[in-house]
Amino acid sequence: MRKLLAANWKENPKSEKEALALFRGIRNGNKGLRVSVVVCPPFVFLPKISDEFKKTKSNKNLLLGAQDVFWEESGPFTGEVGPAMLKSLGARYAIIGHSERRKWLHETDEMINKKVKLSLSDGLNVILCVGEPLEVRRKGNAAASAFIKNQLKKDLAGISGSSMGRGAMTIAYEPIWAIGTGKSDNPADAAHIIASIKKELKSKGLKKPIVLYGGSVTSRNVADFVQLDEIDGALVGGASLQAAEFKKMIKLVAKVSN
Ligand code: PGA
Repeated sequence: MRKLLAANWKENPKSEKEALALFRGIRNGNKGLRVSVVVCPPFVFLPKISDEFKKTKSNKNLLLGAQDVFWEESGPFTGEVGPAMLKSLGARYAIIGHSERRKWLHETDEMINKKVKLSLSDGLNVILCVGEPLEVRRKGNAAASAFIKNQLKKDLAGISGSSMGRGAMTIAYEPIWAIGTGKSDNPADAAHIIASIKKELKSKGLKKPIVLYGGSVTSRNVADFVQLDEIDGALVGGASLQAAEFKKMIKLVAKVSN
C-alpha cells in the first residue's frame, strides 16, 4: 500500500515567513511518487499554508493537517479550534493525543476520546498518538502492547468500525522515550507492537487499520521502519523541519511503497 509520512512541526518555526519557506521547500517533494504526505503546521500558520496548498493543486497526495483539535464545534471555549474550522481551511487531518499534549497540557484519555469522536463524525481524518513510557517498555514488548491496548480502549471508547463517521482513523505508535531523543525504537520491536495494535483495531471493526511509527525518525532510519509490512508510514517531528532532509525521507519511503 501507499505509505504515509506525516510532518509534525510542533511549536516551530517562529515566524510565518519561515513556515512558508519550509512548506515551499517540501511541497513538491512527493510529486509523482507513491507516498502520501501530511503537513501539520501550528494553527497560526494554517491559513497562509492553506493558500499555498491551493497553488499546489496538482499534487493530491499532499495533505494539510493540524496538530490538535477541540471536542466542541464552536462556543465559549477560549483558545480552542474545532474540526469544522480546520476543514474550512482545507485541513484534512488532525493529530490527537500526542504525548507532549498528554504531558504538558494534561490531556486525558477522556478528552482525547471526545476529540476523536467529533473529528470522525465531522469527516476530519484523525492521527491518534499512543505509546508507552520507558519504565513500561523495560518490562518488554508484551507490557508495552498491554499499555497501548488500555490507551486504545479509552481513547476509542464508543468508536467502532460501523460508528466511525466520515473521517478515517490512523494511529501513530510513538514510544514516549523515543520522541525527540535520537533513540528510535528497534524497527522489529516497533513492528511487533504495531501488529498487536492492528489486531486490537480489527477487533473493534476497523477493517484496514493504518498504523505509523514515530520517534526519532530521520533519513538514516526511515527505510528500516517503513520497509516492514506492519508499518504504514512515519510521524516525523524534528527531521521534518529541514526541507532537504524531509524530501530525502520522502524519496526513501517511495522506494519501499508499492
Ligand atoms: P521526533 O518527534 O521525530 O522529533 O522524535 C516525533 C513526534 O513527536 O511526532
